Amino acid sequence: MIDVTSPPVTVAHVRSWKHERTPFVMLTAYDATTAAILAEAGVPVLLVGDSVGDNLLGHATTVPVTLEDMLHHTRAVTRGAAGALVVADLPFGSYQVDVNEGMRAALRLVKEGGAHAVKAEGGARVVELARRLVESGVPFMGHLGLTPQSVHEMGYRVQGREPEAAEGILADARDLEAAGAFAIVLEGVPASLGKAVTAAVGVPTIGIGAGADTDGQVLVVHDLLGLGPGPPPRFAKAYADLRGVITEAVRAFAEDVATGAFPAPGQRYE
Ligand code: KIV
Repeated sequence: MIDVTSPPVTVAHVRSWKHERTPFVMLTAYDATTAAILAEAGVPVLLVGDSVGDNLLGHATTVPVTLEDMLHHTRAVTRGAAGALVVADLPFGSYQVDVNEGMRAALRLVKEGGAHAVKAEGGARVVELARRLVESGVPFMGHLGLTPQSVHEMGYRVQGREPEAAEGILADARDLEAAGAFAIVLEGVPASLGKAVTAAVGVPTIGIGAGADTDGQVLVVHDLLGLGPGPPPRFAKAYADLRGVITEAVRAFAEDVATGAFPAPGQRYE
């Protein structure tokens, strides 16, 4: 297990894991309590994903998530995540208009939110933003393939199945590396493309629905913990059934109140 407490995880560590062939994980976190549990469990990289929108805030997609939402949750995660590297998502609308606006949004996530790095979705369209952020001292993580902020344009379909589309993703990955990105998330692409991109770039790839050959793997923590209303998506795996655990616990509490078993003498002030 990678030691996340001493020294704190940096982007240099993340880069080195590729060269050392050390597989690593990244998990989403949206609050201080979860961030602390994940960091203590040895998760080296925490992503304050804009998936906070559909997993925590009740939105149907990530599209409505605002920069203020991201700042609020990034602050919470950085307060809890001792030792882990915290990456914050630039939300939809905060970097599409122009590069300067994207720069301002990213700098706020770092200065006010305490993030150590930022992530934005897309290839060619974010290369200039990535280059300027890195020049300014802000580590940048790319995100290619299925990009959920473009749901109204691409749906939630696997990307890069056709040779031309696969070539486009490969070219985008090379461009992001040249712009200084320290890692690239690959989401919803065929396993063969996940492998090809990982071999083509010198920075770590972090896969979600991108097969077994990426340098690292990322999951939405709600999927991993079984907190969602149904089974997790095909590319994910639930390692626990916390929704079931929570349901049983609250039912037991209500039952104890109904029968007078709670509060018991030990839970009262006399
Ligand atoms: O917001 C998010 O959770 C993400 C992951 C799917 C990589 O971007």
